[in-house]
Amino acid sequence: MLDLFSQIENPERDEIILLRRQLEEANYQYYVLNAPTMLDYDFDQKLRRLQDLEARHPDMFDPKSPTQHVGSDLHEEKAEKGQQKTKKGFEQVAHRYPMLSLSNTYSREEVEEWMSKLPQGAEVVCELKYDGLSISLWYEHGQLTKALTRGDGVKGDNVLQNIQTIARIPKLIVQDNMPEYVEMRGEVLLPWQAFERLNKEREQDEEPLFANPRNAASGTLKLQDSSEVARRGLDIYLYYMLGDNLPEQTHYDRLQIAKQWGFPISDAVKVCKTVEEVMAYIHYWDIERKNLPVATDGIVLKVNNLALQEELGYTAKSPRWAIAYKFPAEKQLTRLNAITYQVGRTGVVTPVANLEAIQLSGTTVQRATLHNEDFIRQLDIREGDMVWVEKGGEIIPKIIGKEDNSTLPNPTSYYAFPSHCPECGTQLVRIDGEAAWRCPNEATCPPQIKGKIEHYVSRKAMNIEGLGSETIDLLYSQGLLHNIADIYALSQSDIAQQERLGEKSAQNILASIEQSKQIPWARVLFALGIRMVGETTAKKIARRFPSIDQLQWASIEQLTAIEDVGEQIANNIIAYFNDMHNLEIIYRLRQANVQMESTEEEATPQSNVLQGKSIVISGVFAHHSRDEYKAMIEAHGGKNVGSVSKKTSFILAGDNMGPEKRKKAQDLGVEILNEDDFLALIQAL
Ligand code: IVH
Repeated sequence: MLDLFSQIENPERDEIILLRRQLEEANYQYYVLNAPTMLDYDFDQKLRRLQDLEARHPDMFDPKSPTQHVGSDLHEEKAEKGQQKTKKGFEQVAHRYPMLSLSNTYSREEVEEWMSKLPQGAEVVCELKYDGLSISLWYEHGQLTKALTRGDGVKGDNVLQNIQTIARIPKLIVQDNMPEYVEMRGEVLLPWQAFERLNKEREQDEEPLFANPRNAASGTLKLQDSSEVARRGLDIYLYYMLGDNLPEQTHYDRLQIAKQWGFPISDAVKVCKTVEEVMAYIHYWDIERKNLPVATDGIVLKVNNLALQEELGYTAKSPRWAIAYKFPAEKQLTRLNAITYQVGRTGVVTPVANLEAIQLSGTTVQRATLHNEDFIRQLDIREGDMVWVEKGGEIIPKIIGKEDNSTLPNPTSYYAFPSHCPECGTQLVRIDGEAAWRCPNEATCPPQIKGKIEHYVSRKAMNIEGLGSETIDLLYSQGLLHNIADIYALSQSDIAQQERLGEKSAQNILASIEQSKQIPWARVLFALGIRMVGETTAKKIARRFPSIDQLQWASIEQLTAIEDVGEQIANNIIAYFNDMHNLEIIYRLRQANVQMESTEEEATPQSNVLQGKSIVISGVFAHHSRDEYKAMIEAHGGKNVGSVSKKTSFILAGDNMGPEKRKKAQDLGVEILNEDDFLALIQAL
């Protein structure tokens, strides 16, 4: 009885349960959704508190507690937690050595405390803590055979094909002193420049932007199309070696050997003997890191002597021979004056914080995103609170937390998300499984209409020049442009009478509108702006459904059979065609002679040089994506098949074709063509 009583009444036990739940949730947001909601610092504070409490209540030990395992990025878990079905078929492989995390520190005192526990005179290696995703590269007999993500620490996704696109990674090492098996651990990164270029492209294509290079690198590494991965330009730094019979007695010397073997090892590695030296390293890099081409978020300290490392060993989550010191994030406290709402092209209503102006990373910040309703509620943010704003690598500054006890006395009410669209007054809806509230009034909600028109005319869609957002605004407010079909009803005088536009611009705009009638069906489909149908998906759909009439009647099964089309996209397409307003627009676009089907040239084979041939595609390509090669094979009468057999006519092989496929092809005597041979064959070079 007493025991039961103590279990119910003991607030520490309740706290353990609460903390475990909060940390689990934060791990999920960080690793799986790539959308962290808790500050790293808060996470670590809560984790420490949980560790203390668990130590005081050993009977509550749970191997599943966040103190006992690292977060997971495995994609199967995404599906389990009700996310959109993923078709990412990466092979899952058990790690030979678990992939652990590092325990974090934030102050000189903590660094000092850790060093004071080491034997007298022990050397410490200082390294930069790169802010990307950890990767484990397997080298068997000098050859790179696997590249595993951390996954849940025990098993990871094999992303070898994508990793092979990183130029600095050696694919084959021929060195006498290289042991039979070597595993290199490191961090995959998207350099700032590549990140900015990628986001610029995404902005132009009206695709959602990546919040920071870490998220962009994570999204990139899990792409199916290796040629797209190659194009984005990932980079890597390696920082630890594992295996049997490895050379050298210290971590530093091993890194130097690894460098000699050709591995990309940072030059910023330094052996330090005293706390002062470590602190000098930290201070130096806290400033100098801003000039580095990649993101860093701290310093890692590692015991140099490998025998001592072994002696110190590991906890369930991290080595005792290493710790991380995290740089303080660039953040500032300011007053939240008001929460307003912004309605996007797809009707998503985003809460925006209007702030007392502050200086952050060299710019004035007055507005920041508050993400969504759940975020505001979780942090119990109210107008008038003092909030923390962070800019860092993010495009849009964001609110990351609030100062405790900063809520003004007698706040008017708890926060409530508006029930109706701030732009058009329609009742908002919240789709199951999504955090966002959405205005369903696609047809007449002004920002949605204007956003759809801007998307339609954009370069990658119908490429209509001269219709910028200001002109669209003007034409909209005069009642001349209310949907994309109205574009084709604009007259010379409609345009010429606008401020800052004259007869000449009007002529140019009309000529560009006329030209848009030649844009192929796949791009028209993208231009329609069906939710989640991006450029590539539109191409794939148009290939399967070469006319809008066919697409209009497509079933959910037919749609989900298309690569990249999950249930959610299929439902969006079906909903689009169930809307009378959209059908009317399509009718009018068709009347205007916009391409609603593939031309004969696109739909019929370009030649029959590959007639009757079964072709396997393997590896990474330089000139075209795999999908483009697939389309070429079909356009020339051939068939693309998945696996090598006696019936395979030839293999179209890029770089890094799988060794098993190569062997099988050789055994069966199947010819292997490189991409230039292939292009010459179909005479497309
Ligand atoms: S050593 C046994 N060294 O930080 C742990 N990690 O927060 C070995 N990281 O999972 C990690 N730079 O992804 C190490 N120079 C560095 C690092 C580094 C970045 C990452 C790594 C690790 C995470 C821990």
